[in-house]
Amino acid sequence: MKLRNKAAALLLLALAALLLALLSLRAGRAAPPAPLTRPASAPPRRAAPAPARLPGWSALPGAGPSARRRRPPRLRPRAGRRGAVSLKKSARRPGELRSFQAELPPELWIHLAVVACGNRLEETLVMLKSAVLFSHRKMQFHIFTEESLKPELDKQLRQWPDSYTKKFEHRIYPITFSAGNPQEWKKLFKPCAAQRLFLPVILKDVDSLLYVDTDVLFLRPVDDIWKLLRQFNSTQLAAMAPEHEIPKIGWYSRFARHPFYGSAGVNSGVMLMNLTRIRSAQFKNSMISTGLAWEDMLYPLYQKYKNAITWGDQDLLNIIFYFNPECLYVFPCQWNYRPDHCMYGSNCREAEREGVSVLHGNRGVYHDEKQPTFKALYEAIRDFPFQDNLFQSMYYPLQLKFLETVHTLCGRIPQVFLKQIEKTMKRAYEKHVIIHVGPNQMH
Ligand SMILES: *[C@@H]1O[C@H](CO)[C@@H](O)[C@H](O)[C@H]1NC(C)=O
Ligand SMILES: *[C@@H]1O[C@H](CO)[C@@H](O)[C@H](O)[C@H]1NC(C)=O
Repeated sequence: MKLRNKAAALLLLALAALLLALLSLRAGRAAPPAPLTRPASAPPRRAAPAPARLPGWSALPGAGPSARRRRPPRLRPRAGRRGAVSLKKSARRPGELRSFQAELPPELWIHLAVVACGNRLEETLVMLKSAVLFSHRKMQFHIFTEESLKPELDKQLRQWPDSYTKKFEHRIYPITFSAGNPQEWKKLFKPCAAQRLFLPVILKDVDSLLYVDTDVLFLRPVDDIWKLLRQFNSTQLAAMAPEHEIPKIGWYSRFARHPFYGSAGVNSGVMLMNLTRIRSAQFKNSMISTGLAWEDMLYPLYQKYKNAITWGDQDLLNIIFYFNPECLYVFPCQWNYRPDHCMYGSNCREAEREGVSVLHGNRGVYHDEKQPTFKALYEAIRDFPFQDNLFQSMYYPLQLKFLETVHTLCGRIPQVFLKQIEKTMKRAYEKHVIIHVGPNQMH
């Protein structure tokens, strides 16, 4: 190992240790065995809403397994046992779930869609896990998949601990093409590839949707990307990140034989959509002078460009927004961070500043050795035992793994990958301390 790398490694380790020490110190000061010994004098009504808002944060420093915390801590001060969670699944206190839902009416849930085919089952589950680990708001998962994957997917999701399953509901759909001629569509595209284009038509009752590829990982609450919907101006109805930060060397500017959005095209691996607007809009196009509704446009558009497109539906989306640029909100690269953003040197400025918010391990990098930084993140989230302490069982091992990636260009900027995770943990930890210790100190 080079001297510089060694020094960087040592520095990282020291920082990690310092952070852990600091946090345990604060935990110690704030509330000796933090959440468990909430003063008996604290108003009891505070107990219920707190875990409801932060159901996943049993895994914080000082916190025990969530089986302890799901109950008002006063009542069962030392009841926690690691294995207790699954046994107690059926013993969910009815009031708890109700208060969680009461806080958030269904029209305020986050809707997250994914299309999982072939061998993408594990990836899909890890993506969904990252969404529930870090998010606060209740989510509805819309999972489109082949019949053969459905039972396993369903089973695994139901096996997650209670404190996590109550953060979401999931619906599993078959792959279908409800617009135009389904048989024709099936012939034209690989079955799964085009599915995302049809989501506005299939999910008729859903107002807005976050679509992600299976190889996406959330490194901060999904709530945060969902908020971008509110930033749409009156003509915008979808949001994506640029396909490349340096148009000159991006794929579209060099190779595309069809129109594409902007100077580098957009990447459809992370896509926010206001479906209500998409369903009611008329889209300009190269075929007829009047606008066309979304579902009436897809098939003719495909017919016209099928010999020129390479990436299937992403290319069609680029063509659509080339003709309708006022409809697209372009969000910065930190929301769809790919190996392209670091493998030739760091070129995503927003991620350098704010950290990676949504990681997109395309080109199969979670499963080979080409980008060990991406793989380390994937494995850290995949292997995290739900009920454990996030710092000890995810963040700390992740830092150690990163030390082995410093020989790659992506591995030289660990802080870019860790900044948001770190922030998320700190924020949740602080909330946690305030919720459980605060009442007494704030009165
Ligand atoms: C989507 O657009 C519709 C119509 O403009 C609007 O009423 C709705 O609030 C939008 N949804 C979100 C989440 O912004
Ligand atoms: C909304 O923003 C887009 C992209 O910046 C722009 O092209 C469009 O004109 C804007 N629409 C309105 C109504 O300002």
